[in-house]
Amino acid sequence: MHTMMERYKMLKEKVVERRSSFMNLMNYLESETDWLKSPASTRFHLSREQGLLEHSCNVAETMIRLKEALTPEITDESCVIVALLHDLGKVGMPGRPQYLKGGKYPYTYNRDLTYLSVPIRSIYLALPYIELSEEEVQAIVYHDGQYVDDNASVARKEEPLTLLLQYADTWSGFVLENESKISKLAGMRS
Ligand SMILES: [Fe+2]
Repeated sequence: MHTMMERYKMLKEKVVERRSSFMNLMNYLESETDWLKSPASTRFHLSREQGLLEHSCNVAETMIRLKEALTPEITDESCVIVALLHDLGKVGMPGRPQYLKGGKYPYTYNRDLTYLSVPIRSIYLALPYIELSEEEVQAIVYHDGQYVDDNASVARKEEPLTLLLQYADTWSGFVLENESKISKLAGMRS
């Protein structure tokens, strides 16, 4: 069983072609933002320290397994980049995290941020450091698929990378990160 940081490190190793720009981005995120300690939500899935990192690693690992079965021609690199960056906007900005500890729920939203949707902030944070393909931008921006009304415009225009990310994200959030679903599956196995 690997620790969270070992899993994260192994995923980062899979980025080879854009290694130096990717590592510059990750070093910036790790040192200047809440990337390594941010929760994934205020009160839903993984609303605890390092929840965002755990979710991002779950999505990346699931996505790589899906693409190996379905579309091995897509690179591990693209999968790791879009999966690790899809919810990056949740970190907020340097010195102004999106989630603050405490309040009615484990975390509350920081009102000291200009409203940007999570995927738009993800792109905003990433692009100064790393070049992304059109397909990678589509996957990140529309990763919530038809769960979000804003995304109606992408309907039936999704690239394979977008579909893989959407499914890996849904699977991680609704199954891997849902304790009652996991124990139900364990019961079916025994
Ligand atoms: Fe997500």
